[in-house]
Amino acid sequence: MVKACVAGASGGIGQPLSLLLKGCPLIDELSLYDVVNTPGVAADLSHISSPAVVTGYLPADDGMKKAFAGCDLVVIPAGIPRKPGMTRDDLFKINAGIVRDLIKGVAEACPKAFVLVISNPVNSTVPIAAEVLKAAGVFDPKKLFGVTTLDVVRAETFVASITGEKNPSKLNIPVIGGHSGETIVPLFSQAKPAVDIPAKDYDALVNRVQFGGDEVVKAKDGAGSATLSMAYAGFRFAEKLVRAIKGEKGVVEPSFVYLPGVAGGDAIVKATGCEFFSVPIELGPSGAEKAIDVVNSANDAEKKLLEACYTGLKGNISKGVEFIQNPP
Ligand code: NAI
Repeated sequence: MVKACVAGASGGIGQPLSLLLKGCPLIDELSLYDVVNTPGVAADLSHISSPAVVTGYLPADDGMKKAFAGCDLVVIPAGIPRKPGMTRDDLFKINAGIVRDLIKGVAEACPKAFVLVISNPVNSTVPIAAEVLKAAGVFDPKKLFGVTTLDVVRAETFVASITGEKNPSKLNIPVIGGHSGETIVPLFSQAKPAVDIPAKDYDALVNRVQFGGDEVVKAKDGAGSATLSMAYAGFRFAEKLVRAIKGEKGVVEPSFVYLPGVAGGDAIVKATGCEFFSVPIELGPSGAEKAIDVVNSANDAEKKLLEACYTGLKGNISKGVEFIQNPP
């Protein structure tokens, strides 16, 4: 039996993500938590004839605890999204506290759950989550994931538009580092099957993967950031994780994790100087079973991108850790 919760379920990401989870035959129970509208979203989804039993909770009457109770998986897209001109870091002031409080709830109600953080800035909200779980004495690094799958999905799509691949999802392109601007580093040299990116297209392609989110923010013109593609990406990661938990072998997807707590992670910390970093992760019944070191095989152009990534990412990580260790 698998019980999943979406925290932030009434939002632009939360609703389509909850729809995809409701349609997934691997999920038996789906609880929806938000500060608004969950009774309506839950009633609507509950009419879909898939197995998952859907319930909705608001903060009143200990709703968060009830939503989280018994969960195997908590997916968190709660918080405000970007508007034109904003960076993900601009969201910190509001989203840091939202994530902190939700993770406190997880630590109390379902300390053994796998936690998937979507709320931005992921580079800081995941360290916040780790610190809160540590303080509660329930931190298991194998179970905490920053969802960076949208960067991978974008890389697949944008590369296919250059190479002519008809089905972009057949491409496997590691995108590593963090989840904002220059901290996002696509490793086209390690794509499988191999891809040939013409030199004249390389810089623009890297830039599009790093700043693809801005295309959506601009096109939505004040109405938010990526929601549908993010729901797809969040579901892709959640579904892969559930398949791995249930025993499927060879499931790999990049994710932003606390590397010292994951097998193979120490070598990557040594190379990058970052304890939190996204690399391809082999998933299994205990969660992040192995971090795959793609950093050391990056080519020269990618190594240059990585240098810029480390600087930005270290600052974002410290900001998250500080927020809990020395609260403002
Ligand atoms: P939204 O504003 O449409 O939805 C957010 C939802 O969170 C709302 O329903 C709101 O009521 C709820 N919420 C606010 N405070 C809450 C709390 N304390 N507890 C529970 N729910 C709460 O925003 P959207 O577009 O769904 O984005 C959500 C987050 O996801 C943003 O931080 C955004 O930047 C991030 N995001 C992350 C991506 C990634 O690749 N990791 C990609 C796109 C967005």
